[in-house]
Amino acid sequence: MTDDDALRERIAAELFAARGRTTLLTSAVDEPDLVKQHSPLMSPLVWDLAHVANQEELWLLREVGGRTPMHPEIDPLYDAFEHPRAKRPALPLLPPGEARSYSREVRGRVLDLLERVTFGGTRLTDGGFAFGMIAQHEAQHDETMLATHQLRAGGPALSAPPPPPAPADAATLPPEVLVPGGPFTMGTSAEPWALDNERPAHDVHVPAFYLDTTPVTNAAYAEFIADGGYDDPRWWSAAGWAHRRRAGLEAPLFWRRDSDAWVRVSFGVPQPIIPNEPVVHVCWYEADAYARWAGRRLPTEAEWEKAARHDPVSGRSRRYPWGDADPTPELANLGQRHLRPAPAGAYPAGAAPSGARQLIGDVWEWTSSDFLPYPGFVAWPYREYSEVFFGPEYKVLRGGAFGVSPVACRGTFRNWDYPIRRQIFAGFRTARSAPEAGESRAR
Ligand SMILES: [Fe+2]
Repeated sequence: MTDDDALRERIAAELFAARGRTTLLTSAVDEPDLVKQHSPLMSPLVWDLAHVANQEELWLLREVGGRTPMHPEIDPLYDAFEHPRAKRPALPLLPPGEARSYSREVRGRVLDLLERVTFGGTRLTDGGFAFGMIAQHEAQHDETMLATHQLRAGGPALSAPPPPPAPADAATLPPEVLVPGGPFTMGTSAEPWALDNERPAHDVHVPAFYLDTTPVTNAAYAEFIADGGYDDPRWWSAAGWAHRRRAGLEAPLFWRRDSDAWVRVSFGVPQPIIPNEPVVHVCWYEADAYARWAGRRLPTEAEWEKAARHDPVSGRSRRYPWGDADPTPELANLGQRHLRPAPAGAYPAGAAPSGARQLIGDVWEWTSSDFLPYPGFVAWPYREYSEVFFGPEYKVLRGGAFGVSPVACRGTFRNWDYPIRRQIFAGFRTARSAPEAGESRAR
């Protein structure tokens, strides 16, 4: 098989995997639930369905294939920048049947194009970039649609998946790992499907620090609540305290008190919180307050990436914590296989050289960093992908969650959101600076 044929096969497999998930998520509910808006934060599922197809048509059939638009009149309806999510239900959207046939039609033509396309020669086709971008785009909407399912009222719609693997040696894990100080390579110039904000690779000096071995658990977070963490402004930033009061925050989203215990509603099923499972559905302000209460802080984005990628033996940065091989079910909880994070300490085979576990998968991890461009950033293939979001309004999340597809997750992948957002599958871990070398010596 030639390299191009292998690339064609990989692209077809990624497109197929993303569509399988889209189909499952949009066929699990009835038509009224497909067109309904379940939260002002989310689009109706039927919007996601046709938007995914519209972007696929735009980038692959028109930009790569040079085809004329199939239905130019619908383009503005599915332009995410023209209509905020809250306004989308009022648009004359394609009804479910038409949205499905449009997406089938686009996909059929894309698979024809894929058989004939020449890779390279243009930036869009180099390494199959545009196809990779579209596979990632659909996978990201699969995650968004999963979040819509979590926000949907009523009984369960998704069938219960198997539980994630239990950790065998969690009791013997150290609570934190040391990441030695020094430079490391952050970002990438080599990953063919990396998005503009992950580029270019550049050296960053990161002083030594300690990082939690695993994400913060429900049990640890419940201690913060029980200790009055939500009532003590000492732990909160000024903006965080103002938000906590205004929004009446008292616990993670979807938690509710049932006599003495906390119950979490997960995809329509109420169940007691699992103590050793990473906490999920907390906003940046809550993560920041917890860290201060614990006498620690959130890691910076560079610290997170160094802990996840830096190999102190070779001095190079890996694609993933475990090495350069793509994720498998033994390495990380990704791809909506379990619909919940695995208990803290799971996936020993996926550990980073630093010893930290579950950096990839399980829960997105809030970092202390604003979403900013790397030195030498160039917007590609369009400004609205990342550039318009750069600035202090957004905080960076890293590592992906159980709802994220492997194609849209790697050690360099950057996600960003407002510090008040809780509907995303976000948790966190905490850090502390290590004393400078020599500092602890008696003088
Ligand atoms: Fe989109």
